[in-house]
Amino acid sequence: VVAPAARAEDGYDLWLRYKPVEASVRAAYAARAAAIAPTRDTPTMKVARAELERGLTGLVGKPASAAAGSRDGVILLKADSADTALGDEGYRIRTLTVNGRTTTVIAANRDVGVLYGVFRYLSLIQTRQSVDKLDIASAPKVKLRMLNHWDNLNRTVERGYAGQSIFDWWRLPGHVDPRLVDYARANASIGINGAVLNNVNAKADSLTAPYIAKAAAVADTLRPYGIKVYLSARWSAPIEIGGLKSADPLDPAVAAFWKAKADELYKAIPDFGGFLVKANSEGQPGPQDYGRTHVDGANMLADAVGPHGGVVIWRAFVYSHQQPDDRAKQGYSEFKPFDGQFRDNVVIQVKNGAIDFQPREPFHPLFGAMPKSNLGMEFQITKEYLGFSTHLVYLGPLYEETLKSDTMAEGKGSTVAKVVDGQLDGRKLTVMAGVANIGSDRNWSGSQFDQANWYVFGRLAWDPEASSRAIAEDWTRMTFGNDPRLVKPVVAMMMGSREAAVDYMTPLGLHHQMGRDGHYGPGPWVSGGPRADWTSVYYAKAGPDGVGFDRTPTGSNATAQYAPAVGACFADLKCVDEKNLLWFHHLPWDYRLKSGDTLWDGMVRRYSAGVAYVDGMNRTWATLAPYVDARRHAEVADYLKIQRDEAQWWRDASIAWFQTFSKRPLPPGEKPPA
Ligand code: GCU
Repeated sequence: VVAPAARAEDGYDLWLRYKPVEASVRAAYAARAAAIAPTRDTPTMKVARAELERGLTGLVGKPASAAAGSRDGVILLKADSADTALGDEGYRIRTLTVNGRTTTVIAANRDVGVLYGVFRYLSLIQTRQSVDKLDIASAPKVKLRMLNHWDNLNRTVERGYAGQSIFDWWRLPGHVDPRLVDYARANASIGINGAVLNNVNAKADSLTAPYIAKAAAVADTLRPYGIKVYLSARWSAPIEIGGLKSADPLDPAVAAFWKAKADELYKAIPDFGGFLVKANSEGQPGPQDYGRTHVDGANMLADAVGPHGGVVIWRAFVYSHQQPDDRAKQGYSEFKPFDGQFRDNVVIQVKNGAIDFQPREPFHPLFGAMPKSNLGMEFQITKEYLGFSTHLVYLGPLYEETLKSDTMAEGKGSTVAKVVDGQLDGRKLTVMAGVANIGSDRNWSGSQFDQANWYVFGRLAWDPEASSRAIAEDWTRMTFGNDPRLVKPVVAMMMGSREAAVDYMTPLGLHHQMGRDGHYGPGPWVSGGPRADWTSVYYAKAGPDGVGFDRTPTGSNATAQYAPAVGACFADLKCVDEKNLLWFHHLPWDYRLKSGDTLWDGMVRRYSAGVAYVDGMNRTWATLAPYVDARRHAEVADYLKIQRDEAQWWRDASIAWFQTFSKRPLPPGEKPPA
């Protein structure tokens, strides 16, 4: 361990590094970006111009101030377009001639579009694309692109692996950490326009006057960057802070409490986004405590914030241990019957899969099943089940796999992406949320590579049909550099990393095999305790006869929750993709995989393939030392070694456990567990 040099790279700048371009291309870029024209001074235009100046100063040299048309190479920022295709947040960047002078115009209908356009323009230089003849138009396909912070008021972060919460409730509102400005810049650079500041397992305190004042100070800081603040609401707040005896949504006193609370919030935060609610899930209070439904609860809250333009985001992550049914079925069973009954300003937020952010899950059956409701996507950015911040796992392919899944709800091509962006059912209020991986660590995410997961989330929320590989490449160039000897291997490492984690943790459709509570290392033997569906043995169902969870019609029949063609495929061994095999099927150890291997041999080989991939990443990264600054290189190298050992740990523990049931030898060439 070597003490870092004082000004060493530590990852704080994220992908907004703005390091000088190579001398060979500097003049060409500088000619196009020599000056910035004066702008109208709204707070957002001010930060847009400041960002452009900061970026250009770092990349190609400090720009002058000059009117458009007065010389070549002026950049003009305009927020007064009337281009309907751009909507409220889109932008268009064009190279135009003004008074015979080459001018770059970054135009939008509203100032926030200009800010997004500025970040895009800077990224073109950061990734060494030409800015000579530009005509780029882009508008977000999803309306609310949000981070969900699972941050507690005492600054601990539920499932957070990057230090304390960046929201310092103790010192707010008197002191606002300037770091929040950098947080806002990073989010705006990828189009994120909303942040839920507190944990879904919420405390009612967050809705008291002192905390509203604190949230207002955060909102004031984020507002110029186009980011709205939301709060998680605790269902029982009327009792805990309102002095009421009940939180029954049909009790007029309860509705009056929430209406008054909404009025108080909007007085302090005029553009407050709304509430996120986890109700009747994992022991949280909710309307069902009073014999009411999700609809009763969500609509009552929606009526409180509706007059102010607010929304209610109601989570579909519900399951109850009092129900003997397969946990994977409960979200659908509870919500599907309510389709069409929620208010227009309610969004049902659905996790990508039906269990809980596992390394791999088939898409959640609710996607495509509620065409008359606003249905939002909830991804997890923090890697609760994917090795926290020490394992290098790029989540782009996970997000893309889900978004590209075809629900077949309205025939072929009814992808999850088209449900989420509203295309499929013509819905306007659309949401993509990511459970944030951000904390007070200098590098924000706990590891250099986890920054890429924040980045790819934002980019896919802007365009759910974008390519995770192309995004990985942009991120790598902006974060580490443009040398092809670096870019190619890093992108390759990233793109295979999620599949490798699936392999060494839960191959072939296995799921929920992690250690209890911590959710970090392997724990396929976890059993007992308060509820079966918090154990590993419940999900793997390993025994002498085989392994896997039968969700076909002979089992829990969860496959019936999908569109008929999709469900039939999942239930059919000839059709189901082997990556989901044991999610849907319970199979004998000697079942033949497509490779010709038995299930047992194939499982063992997959565990080993995962470990081998991490070995490969270690080797590749070692060769990249010449292209990465020493401090970041060393940190990543250390983490990769940890990941190597822990991939082995997962493999060995899992094989040792399952071998007690399979009672079969390891396939040739496989080393016995250490
Ligand atoms: C997971 C996670 C919890 C979290 C929950 C949720 O179960 O482990 O910490 O509260 O998801 O999404 O509400």
